[in-house]
Amino acid sequence: AAVLPQRTDLAGKTILITAGPTTTAIDAVRYITNHSTGRMGAAMAEEALRRGAVVDYVLGMDKGVVRPVAPRGAENRLNIIEVRTAEEMAAAALKHLPRAHGVVASAAVMDYAVAAPASNKLKRASEAIALDLVPSVDVLGTLSQAATGKWFMGFAAETDNVEAHGQGKLKAKGLDFLFANAVAKLGETGETGFGVGTNAGILLGKDGSRHELALGSKADIARQIWDIVA
Ligand code: CTP
Ligand code: CA
Repeated sequence: AAVLPQRTDLAGKTILITAGPTTTAIDAVRYITNHSTGRMGAAMAEEALRRGAVVDYVLGMDKGVVRPVAPRGAENRLNIIEVRTAEEMAAAALKHLPRAHGVVASAAVMDYAVAAPASNKLKRASEAIALDLVPSVDVLGTLSQAATGKWFMGFAAETDNVEAHGQGKLKAKGLDFLFANAVAKLGETGETGFGVGTNAGILLGKDGSRHELALGSKADIARQIWDIVA
């Protein structure tokens, strides 16, 4: 196999990455989460490590979540911090923000938290129940407001109007880059998005730039994103 030239364009840089799903507890044994497996974040981290970066990786833990594997020789440049809720993710990310040159937010953060989780196990009953949900913290929005002189990249998975929603989030969250991709609607299947090994989408830049990245493995997509962002 051909040996690809090793890029070192992130040597000396520290990248803060959020990844994976966050969860919110309903009671002692139940919780709400979303379909993120953490694979796109892991691919972004692995490629950043290959290019010489130090990576602070704030990972939302759930069953089956994928952890990044440091390339040989880069083990001591990968720092994984495990969290569960959106609030824990925000606290861990804010703690590591000062030393970051740039932030990549690939986490699928629960936008709502259960207002009053029960500390015991709720018992089954025959009537319908309602669950009160309250908005949770916008991790990326909080980070980008807290810092100057750093760059920020977000991801957006959308079922409709992918590019328009992506542009809206790029501006609303004060980002330098946003990668927008399509996800399948409920009951449909797709080649991009949650739980699949491939991805494709559009990398939007604050400067108006627009790069369409064709379907490839998440590692391919991460390489192309870093070629532009690094
Ligand atoms: N994000 C975050 N914290 C949140 C929600 C989102 O850090 N509570 C980050 C994600 O990691 C991603 C970007 O913001 O990089 C866009 O996430 P998305 O869920 O698409 O944005 P929202 O503003 O939550 O919009 P939506 O209503 O479409 O969920
Ligand atoms: Ca959201």
